[in-house]
Amino acid sequence: MKRIAVLASGRGSNFQAIIDAISAGTLRAECVRLITDNPGAYAITRAKGAGVPVTALDYRSYATKGAYEADLLAAMKDCRADLFVLAGYMRIIGQAITDTFAGKMINIHPALLPAFAGLHAQRQAIEYGVKVAGCTVHLVDGGMDSGPIILQVCVPVLEDDDEDSLAERILAEEHQALPAAAALFCEGRLSVEGRRVRILPPRD
Ligand code: GAR
Repeated sequence: MKRIAVLASGRGSNFQAIIDAISAGTLRAECVRLITDNPGAYAITRAKGAGVPVTALDYRSYATKGAYEADLLAAMKDCRADLFVLAGYMRIIGQAITDTFAGKMINIHPALLPAFAGLHAQRQAIEYGVKVAGCTVHLVDGGMDSGPIILQVCVPVLEDDDEDSLAERILAEEHQALPAAAALFCEGRLSVEGRRVRILPPRD
């Protein structure tokens, strides 16, 4: 059974989707830890509800990003996880961590990358006027929202959409895509060739 650790900064609905997929048996893995940079994150309440141990680091209590990331790296090593899932983790991960866990970290982003990386992706999509938005699950590399793409799901932008209504419709797809990508990873079905991630057929 693969070991998954989740990093989340806030509401944690994507973390919940991982927990639910594990309970449903569609993601055959164990969630061994929630790590958060925010002791007020609602994700912590969800972890307690699911019996998942929590490491809460208070980013704002650190003097430097380097000091925070040293503790984050230590916490991540301590998980002995096969896969780290960034589920609404809202900080750029430093190079010491991306190097240590290269190929073992995935992130969900609420846009069709490479469009609209960074914060407020759904607002960026509305303001740009695109007709199709969506979400992307990708491997994490040293850049911002820039690693090889595992899955993308399209969501139409409707005439009356605002940032909130679009975000809500994208979020429903995120909750499917993130556990699905984690399952492909855990089943050993991802083959990375440069920027391309090939999805291999199921092994039976
Ligand atoms: C999600 O929409 C996720 O895609 C986004 O934050 C939200 C977290 O929601 N992440 C990013 O924008 C990362 N660049 P959640 O806490 O309910 O899962």
